[in-house]
Amino acid sequence: MSRFTIPRDIFYGKGSLAELAGFRGFSRAFIVTDAMMEKLGFAARLEGILRSAGMEVMTFSDVENDPSIETVMEGARRMTGFGPDLIAAIGGGSCIDAAKGMWALYEHPGLTLEDMRTRGVPPLRHKARLAAIPSTSGTGSEVTAFTVISDHKAKVKYPIADFEITPDIAVLDEEITLTMPPSLVAYTGMDALCHAIEAYVALNRSSFTNPLAIHAITVIFGYLKDSYDGALSARGEIHVVQCLAGMAFTNAGLGITHSLAHKIGGALGLPHGLCNAILMPYVIKYNARERAAMRHYANIARRIGLDGTREMNLVNSLVAGVEDLGRYMQIPKCLQDTGISQFKFDMHKEYIASQAFEDGCTATNPRRTSPEDLLAILECAFHGRPVIL
Ligand SMILES: NC(=O)c1ccc[n+]([C@@H]2O[C@H](COP(=O)([O-])OP(=O)(O)OC[C@H]3O[C@@H](n4cnc5c(N)ncnc54)[C@H](O)[C@@H]3O)[C@@H](O)[C@H]2O)c1
Ligand SMILES: [Zn+2]
Repeated sequence: MSRFTIPRDIFYGKGSLAELAGFRGFSRAFIVTDAMMEKLGFAARLEGILRSAGMEVMTFSDVENDPSIETVMEGARRMTGFGPDLIAAIGGGSCIDAAKGMWALYEHPGLTLEDMRTRGVPPLRHKARLAAIPSTSGTGSEVTAFTVISDHKAKVKYPIADFEITPDIAVLDEEITLTMPPSLVAYTGMDALCHAIEAYVALNRSSFTNPLAIHAITVIFGYLKDSYDGALSARGEIHVVQCLAGMAFTNAGLGITHSLAHKIGGALGLPHGLCNAILMPYVIKYNARERAAMRHYANIARRIGLDGTREMNLVNSLVAGVEDLGRYMQIPKCLQDTGISQFKFDMHKEYIASQAFEDGCTATNPRRTSPEDLLAILECAFHGRPVIL
């Protein structure tokens, strides 16, 4: 059976956060956010809006980048004490992911993240609904069935995937993204591009996901540089299509760019979007050896206006286009250029490759792979060498 699942309601456009003032049927709202959202005043704005809708409000603002198991457990504990019927996450992917984990533990006391990772998430929505308000333009977490929780001691990131944790409501208010510094626009924008490209070539691609992915790709190529440069209208465009990319990948699956990015992020501490931005050209070259993937990449290249008669030339032009975007936004071309030492890389590389092979995203990659191939791609991406595999 194939399935396409997204939130029931998506509010979008400038000022759409205020739509929540019209929410009825909820009495207690638990806000999940971080220190930056508090500092920028967005958390207080959300509190005011929910209070104006007649709700009692409690705020948890201790989410860190790449939320930890401990943070999720602490949030769930406070949630249990407060008893909300609405959970409202405002922030980047980290806040939304943390809220998803807390929500599941709140609904099912005794459940562990390990249970969710290995056996899936039991039915939710007996106690609360989840509204997600992204402040970055990349993860798509406001519409996805994924949450990524980190074990910082073991230096591992665990993606959990289950349609149960798809939020009920997403609010895409571009005003909340205007405070993003350029590097965050770059990393999260490249994450969104990677979601769309990986979804478009993934094994579970479908007639539902392909149009979302291809539209997101064309708009990102058209507007991401302007968004990086601070153009307000471009920021709005990217905020919408990163959500479309989220809808595409949550239903089509991803690929080994994400498998490797999850494990590099955990082991080497690099931001998720930066890992994807660096890895994407190497993975496209590797995957393009598979006939069907080559055809899909070539189609992407045509759709963004690149010329070429031979499919391999179109794939090379697509790779050059991705590299050009990265260069414009000052993203390093290889992992070494992020400042990771050869020693640190050598210490972790085999573990990263073997763990990436086990990552859930590997299953939908269009080319069958192996831990050895992943290690070879990783080596190329570290040194900036071409992938010939
Ligand atoms: N659930 C999913 O489907 C999914 C998909 C991709 C990535 N992820 C996960 O999401 C996390 C990354 O999320 P992210 O890239 O959105 O970054 P993030 O949430 O980790 O935020 C990064 C930093 O940017 C700050 N920030 C956020 N919005 C801001 C704004 N508007 N202005 C100024 N500063 C702002 C945050 O406070 C934080 O310090 C990773 O853990 C990644 O693994 C999840
Ligand atoms: Zn991602």
